Amino acid sequence: MTQVFPIILAAGQGTRMRSDLPKVLHAVAGKPMLQHVIDTCRKLTNDRLAVVYGHGGEQVKQSIQEDGIVWVLQAEQKGTGHAVAQAIELAPDDAPVLIAYADTPLIRPETLQQLVNTLDKAALAVLTTKPVNPTGYGRIVRNEHGAVLKIVEEKDANESTRAIQEINTGFMVAKGVDFKRWLKRLTPNNAQGEYYLTDCISMAVAEQREVKAVICADPLEAEGINNRVQLARLERVAQQRQVEALMLAGVTVADPARLDIRGQLKAGKDCFIDINVLFLGEVTLGERVIIEPNCVIQDAKIGDGVHIKANTCIESAVVAADCDIGPFARLRPGTVLAEQAKIGNFVETKKTNIGKGSKVSHLSYIGDTEMGEEVNIGAGTITCNYDGVNKFKTTIGDRVFVGSCTQLVAPVTIEDDATIGAGSTITKTAPAGQLTLARAKQMTVKGWQRPVKEQK
Ligand code: UD1
Ligand code: CA
Repeated sequence: MTQVFPIILAAGQGTRMRSDLPKVLHAVAGKPMLQHVIDTCRKLTNDRLAVVYGHGGEQVKQSIQEDGIVWVLQAEQKGTGHAVAQAIELAPDDAPVLIAYADTPLIRPETLQQLVNTLDKAALAVLTTKPVNPTGYGRIVRNEHGAVLKIVEEKDANESTRAIQEINTGFMVAKGVDFKRWLKRLTPNNAQGEYYLTDCISMAVAEQREVKAVICADPLEAEGINNRVQLARLERVAQQRQVEALMLAGVTVADPARLDIRGQLKAGKDCFIDINVLFLGEVTLGERVIIEPNCVIQDAKIGDGVHIKANTCIESAVVAADCDIGPFARLRPGTVLAEQAKIGNFVETKKTNIGKGSKVSHLSYIGDTEMGEEVNIGAGTITCNYDGVNKFKTTIGDRVFVGSCTQLVAPVTIEDDATIGAGSTITKTAPAGQLTLARAKQMTVKGWQRPVKEQK
C-alpha cells in the first residue's frame, strides 16, 4: 500500500484562546501544538504531509521551518470538510489519507497507526472517545447492532443524541479516492452553515461501505485545546508523560509534579532531581547527576557525577564530569567547565573556559576568559571585560592564585603559577610564578585623633 498521507487542519481561528498568537502556535511542553502533531504524523510516513493553514497565516508557516510539508491555504474558514477539500487533490487516490487536528497535541503515534490499520477492514475509520463531559463535540450515532451510522454535531443534535457519550475526536482515515468523491458532495445545510467533514461518515454508510470506530481509551490523549484552561490541563498531562518516561529510564525524581521539561531531556541512570527544577531546550545529563531545588537548566550538557546546588541557572553551557556548581550560580552561554571545576555561590560566568579542578567559589564575575587548571579565584573577583564598546579577553594560566576582591582589566594575562594580591586592579601582564599586586600602600597616621562634637 502507498504511504499514509496526513492532512493536518490548522486553519481555525481559536477565538476562545483570546490571543494574538494563532491557537496552534501555543506551546505544550515547550513546543507549538502544531509541531507536536507534525512530529507525531511523521512517525507514520517518511513522505510529505499537508498542513492546512489560514488564521495567522504567515506566522504559522514561519514558525515551523522544515522540509516535507506542503502548506495549503484555506483563505476562509468554512468548516472542517472545506479545509480538507483544499488539500485532498494532493493525496494519491490509493493512499490512506489521515485527517489530524493541530489543536490535539497529545495524540500518540500508536493510536494513529491503529486507526490507519483499521482501513484494512473498512472504507472509513474514525477515532472516537468517551469523555466525562461530551458537551460541544460531535456525537457518534450507532445502530442497534453497534455499527456507526453518522456523526451529529452538538448544535444539530436533539436531546437524545446529546445524551450519547461517545464523541468524534476529529481524527479519521479513508482512501484518497473516497475522500475526493465524498468531499465534492458536501453541503453546508446545517446549524452552523459549514461544510462538515463528519458528513463523510453518513455518505460512506449510504454507499453501503463499512465505517469503523476506534475508541481511544484515554480521552485526554484525544482532547482538543480550545481555551487556556484546557491548555494548562494538557500541559500537566504532557509533563506527567515525560517525567514517567524519565523515571522509568532510571532517574529519581523527588516529586513528579514539580519538574517541568519544555524541550528534550536525556539523562543517564541514577540521577536525582529535586523539586521545582525546569529544563528548557535540549539538555543532556550524564549518570549520577544531582540537581537540587529551584534550578533552571537550558540547552546544556552536564557530565557524570556533577552536583548542581539549589537556585542555579545554566544556559548554553557544557559541564564536564564531577563539577560542583552553586548554590545560586549562573552559568551563561559559552561557559565550558572542565572536570572537577567548582563554581560557587553568586558567581556568574559567560563565554569562559574553566580548566580542570579550578575553583571560583564566591561572588565573582568571570567573562570572556580562558582559565587553566587548578586555579583558585578569590571571593569578589571581577573580570572587567567591557569598556562600554568592545569586549576583551582575560587569560589565566595554570595554578594561578588570585586574591579576593581583585579586578582583572581585560585584555590582560595572568601567567602560570602567578599570585595576585587581594584587592588589586590588574591592567598589565602578571608574570609567571611571582606575586603581583596593585593597590595603594597601607599607612598609619601617627597621633591622629577622632574629631569631637563642637560645644555650642
Ligand atoms: C470538530 C468536529 C466534531 C468533533 C470536534 C473535536 C466537524 C464538523 N466537527 O468540531 O465532530 O467532535 O471537532 O474537537 O468536523 N479547521 C480548519 N478550517 C476550518 C474549520 C476548522 O482548519 O474551516 C480546523 C481547526 O483549526 C481545528 C479543527 O479543524 O484544528 C477542528 O475545528 P473546530 O472548529 O475546533 O471543530 P469543532 O467545531 O470543534
Ligand atoms: Ca474544537
